[in-house]
Amino acid sequence: MSLFATKALLIAHRGANLLAPENTLPAFALAYEMGAAWVECDVALTADRVPVVLHDRDLWRTARVHAKIDELNYDTLQSYNVGRYFATGAVQATVPKLEELLDLALQYGRGVNIEIKPALSDYAAATAEYSWKVIEPYLDRIPILVSSFELEALRWYSDYAPKVNLGYLLWHWQSNWEETAHSLNVSSIHCNEKFLTQKYLNLLTESKYSILAYTVNTVARAEELFANGVDGIFSDDPQLLSKVSL
Ligand code: G3P
Ligand code: MG
Repeated sequence: MSLFATKALLIAHRGANLLAPENTLPAFALAYEMGAAWVECDVALTADRVPVVLHDRDLWRTARVHAKIDELNYDTLQSYNVGRYFATGAVQATVPKLEELLDLALQYGRGVNIEIKPALSDYAAATAEYSWKVIEPYLDRIPILVSSFELEALRWYSDYAPKVNLGYLLWHWQSNWEETAHSLNVSSIHCNEKFLTQKYLNLLTESKYSILAYTVNTVARAEELFANGVDGIFSDDPQLLSKVSL
């Protein structure tokens, strides 16, 4: 079963993160400009509970600041440049609000996979709840898929926002994945491509769920996964799909 309109889907992982700083508005706009139907983003809460788009709890990797997102207010966060140490040279970039990304997606008429990534597992339900307040007005206007490694976040959506399509993220193979997916009423399973051997691919793709794989950056691996019935891939290259034979 596929949740998505196309046979083979590409989700631009943290936007076009090789061309602009990951999880920033320029990276998402570039991904859409390059043809991506969907982008993936990571969402955490600031100390004053603003849902923002950021992968790590710590700001060190992206901004070279020793600070934690859950200990910073949104206004302070805005003073940090997450593009200063970008791989190909310094650029100016700030951490966007989730709302800003959804506005951008609306402008392009494209999809957003919102990965709920609480700074700490203890914040899973709050991150789910505060993100939902932002997401709800966009729900019937753009394709939206909410995913998480945090079962508590998925449970929150399943209980309080059951209309939302949910994706269950797996880092390792989990023998009880189908039971968990069923109990959380998810639509898709998002798997680390590294554990997707033939055996696990067969088990997953025979199920009723859409199967997505992250993070796939080579044509050969993308072709292998699609040939085995995977519905979509997350890639750092928003144009990878155009190089793949389906
Ligand atoms: O949502 C897929 C992928 O983004 C999960 O891993 O660490 O890149 O958020 P990570
Ligand atoms: Mg992610």
